[in-house]
Amino acid sequence: MRIFQLSSGDLVADRRASYAAVLAQEADHAAAAELMEQALELRPGWAAGWCLLGDYRLEAGDGAGAITAYRELARLDAEGQFGAALKLAALGAAPPPRGTEIAYVESLFDDYAARFETKLLVGLDYQAPAQLSRLIEDALAGRGIEQVGRALDLGCGTGLMGERLRRRASFVEGIDLSGEMVELAQRKGIYDRLEKAELTAFLAVHAGGVDLVTAADVLNYCGALPPILASVFPRLVPGGLFAFTLERHEGPEPMVLRPSLRYAHGEDAMRAACREAGFEIISVGTAPLRRDRGEPVMGLLVLLSRPAALDASYDLTRGPDEPMAQQKVPEQTIDALDARGPGGGEPRLDHREDAAAIERGLQRQIGRRSGAAFQVGGDVLVEDRTKLPVNDQVAAALQQAAIETGVPADMGQQRRQEAEGFRGGAVDRPGKLGAQPLETEGEQRVLAGKVRIEGGAAYSAATRMSSTVMAS
Ligand SMILES: C[S@@+](CC[C@H](N)C(=O)[O-])C[C@H]1O[C@@H](n2cnc3c(N)ncnc32)[C@H](O)[C@@H]1O
Repeated sequence: MRIFQLSSGDLVADRRASYAAVLAQEADHAAAAELMEQALELRPGWAAGWCLLGDYRLEAGDGAGAITAYRELARLDAEGQFGAALKLAALGAAPPPRGTEIAYVESLFDDYAARFETKLLVGLDYQAPAQLSRLIEDALAGRGIEQVGRALDLGCGTGLMGERLRRRASFVEGIDLSGEMVELAQRKGIYDRLEKAELTAFLAVHAGGVDLVTAADVLNYCGALPPILASVFPRLVPGGLFAFTLERHEGPEPMVLRPSLRYAHGEDAMRAACREAGFEIISVGTAPLRRDRGEPVMGLLVLLSRPAALDASYDLTRGPDEPMAQQKVPEQTIDALDARGPGGGEPRLDHREDAAAIERGLQRQIGRRSGAAFQVGGDVLVEDRTKLPVNDQVAAALQQAAIETGVPADMGQQRRQEAEGFRGGAVDRPGKLGAQPLETEGEQRVLAGKVRIEGGAAYSAATRMSSTVMAS
């Protein structure tokens, strides 16, 4: 959907907006903004009009005026389709939104889908899929692997990455937020399975057992890396690969939101986040990903591996191919945990609703490092003693856990609001999760999660939280 094609519903306002567009094309942005103001006098509730007004003011050098317009846009467009939150954040007028601005990215790529390949490949010298493909080919060749079993292409778009994965994986799955992009990928017939989904939401419920995960030119729309890394890690088989690109930021900040409304990441912070999440860094390269407004966009090409033998509490909840619904709580959780580690093998879970085992297992896992978990009635509580405030990782873990509990199917605004709610205080409703920062003797303690659900799902959700807390 192209915002300047949306009608205000008023002929005169539309005509003024059309003139404004012509003036903007002629680079007279101040005059364009003035005309848009006049259009909005007739239709003050026209969200797309406020978006255009903000853009024209910004181009005209009126940052304060742009902020005013985007604030009005944010008020009118609660879903976030026009990206007001990102626009305000890019101008320093609001904190960056947590995670992907789902409605904005979906609408952006739905609109872009039909032109995407021509524009990127021909016009913008788009390189990301070819570059990642070379990394992957080299890594597989180095390991003497001709073909892997399962590949998962996050943000698959129209399938440019999938085309390259096809000959290297016997099963190729693609997911993308944009239904239009997925539709075009579908027509190519290169994926064994496609789904329209947000990537962290998808990974939270995916069965795992993936040999290779890719994200070509995707994570620059998603913001902070730790929640994404924490989502991908448990879905990979030990030894599995994760290849992705980022836009490279060279300043001291770990991550910045650019005027393009895409994020760029610093290499040092990226490396630290990958290690923190438990990945082994196989290689990090630097190369132009594509052009933007005539300039090359420098990127980081990253190849990670999930180490072959790892004490990852995540995996305790399921076997590689076991779907969520069939997860069961182990009778011998403690024994299985103790048996784990190099050479310890994958413990399988085969008993249900053993609340004491949940508690002991979590307590042992988390107590070792940074927190504790305990069960009260139907609740599994996970407490983080890392002295960190509720941070993005925890919030993301809570969101993931919320998905596992079957709580909101709408992953957009509602999830963000819930994450905000978690920061604010405990939520105590069946199937809801809460986080409550507690101050105790000068030490900041955080009740990271509270789950009121049953059996395996509770175990899984709480374990997921605990492993994220441990990584934070
Ligand atoms: C620039 S395109 C790249 C598409 C494809 N990977 C390629 O290389 O041609 C970015 C894609 O990522 C998708 N995307 C961005 N954020 C996403 C998220 N959080 N979950 C799923 N898809 C996402 C967009 O919808 C878009 O199709």
